[in-house]
Amino acid sequence: MKRFPALPLAIVAFGVARAGWAQTRPQWPFLVPDKEQPPAKAEAGPIRIPDSSKTYTAAEIDNLAHPPDWFPDEHGPVPRVVEGASGLTALACGSCHLMRGQGHPESADLAGMPVEYIVRQMTDFKNGTRIDPARMNAIAKITSEEDARKAAEWFAALKPTVWVKVMESTTVPKSFVSTRGRMRLPLPAGGTEPLGNRIIELPQDAARAESRDPHSGFVAYVPVGSIEKGKRLVASGGAGKTINCNICHGDDLKGLGDVPRIAGLHPIYIGRQLYAFQGSEYSGTSAALMKKVVAKLADEDILAISAYVASLAP
Ligand code: HEC
Ligand code: HEC
Repeated sequence: MKRFPALPLAIVAFGVARAGWAQTRPQWPFLVPDKEQPPAKAEAGPIRIPDSSKTYTAAEIDNLAHPPDWFPDEHGPVPRVVEGASGLTALACGSCHLMRGQGHPESADLAGMPVEYIVRQMTDFKNGTRIDPARMNAIAKITSEEDARKAAEWFAALKPTVWVKVMESTTVPKSFVSTRGRMRLPLPAGGTEPLGNRIIELPQDAARAESRDPHSGFVAYVPVGSIEKGKRLVASGGAGKTINCNICHGDDLKGLGDVPRIAGLHPIYIGRQLYAFQGSEYSGTSAALMKKVVAKLADEDILAISAYVASLAP
């Protein structure tokens, strides 16, 4: 096992170009709802998913303060901050990250992440040294330190599962990003289009994903050749373009000490974070190492690394 290197001052002081990134970033990692939305199907009556005896209404499924727990037998007692409760207004972690922690491409996979890593991210979201304007800054602000730690301990104890199947392809189902949950979904009218230089991550089953089913994962379509290209960049440091990821994230990229697992995360999430490290979303001390790692990465490198790392077993 390699040791986690000490933080050299030169890296901490490393300046990163901040202005202008937002304009030049490709769109695929950033799930911005499309202006044109297909007509929403009204879900009437109770909703079921395979293998669960429970039923919920659409409104219950979308109650972010008290989300569904489809498989209560698969886990021990859940802290209140994660499962919420009727009558609470604070958003429960289990709604967006799911009770099993794997999350959706627009949120994050927290299963098995180190406790101290999760706690530190919550502190960074709270004090604004990590920015996620859509969700986490506001959530962290109203989450007590005690609850953040309880949630961290809960998610850290969950076993990560293979949740995203990465597939090389030249075409992809036509899709849109929904206003309702910021999730990318296949267009109901069907059809395919060229994938181009993008990663498109879609639910294996849209209805199940929208029901927050923790048993139904995702498929990521990535350009042909991108996995091999990502593997070369990650293993060799890409001829000075970056630093071998395994020095810090562990040989199998499953995490090392407090450095998080990156293997098997949503490729959309990985790409979004690599751009965020290049930009001004991260400004804390703990992000300084990653700012050095991403400084010279071009769009095509970020795409290839995201495809490869997501394809690894978590
Ligand atoms: C309304 C949806 C929502 C809820 C509720 C929510 N999160 Fe998040 N969370 C997100 C999104 C979206 C991201 C991804 C942010 C990004 O892309 O940088 C995220 C990211 C995170 C991360 C960073 C993960 C990483 O690998 O760095 C942590 C930690 C986290 N959330 C913890 C929590 C905890 C703890 C709770 C409950 C107190 C919670 N979240 C509730 C939407 C949510
Ligand atoms: C010198 C050490 C180091 C190296 C090398 C490194 N990382 Fe990291 N990485 C970190 C640390 C530390 C964090 C946590 C940052 C924080 O706390 O904000 C991190 C975080 C990340 C995250 C965010 C994870 C999450 O759950 O949000 C991603 C993605 C990532 N690294 C990808 C990579 C990739 C890909 C490589 C190789 C190209 C790499 N890292 C190389 C130290 C490193």
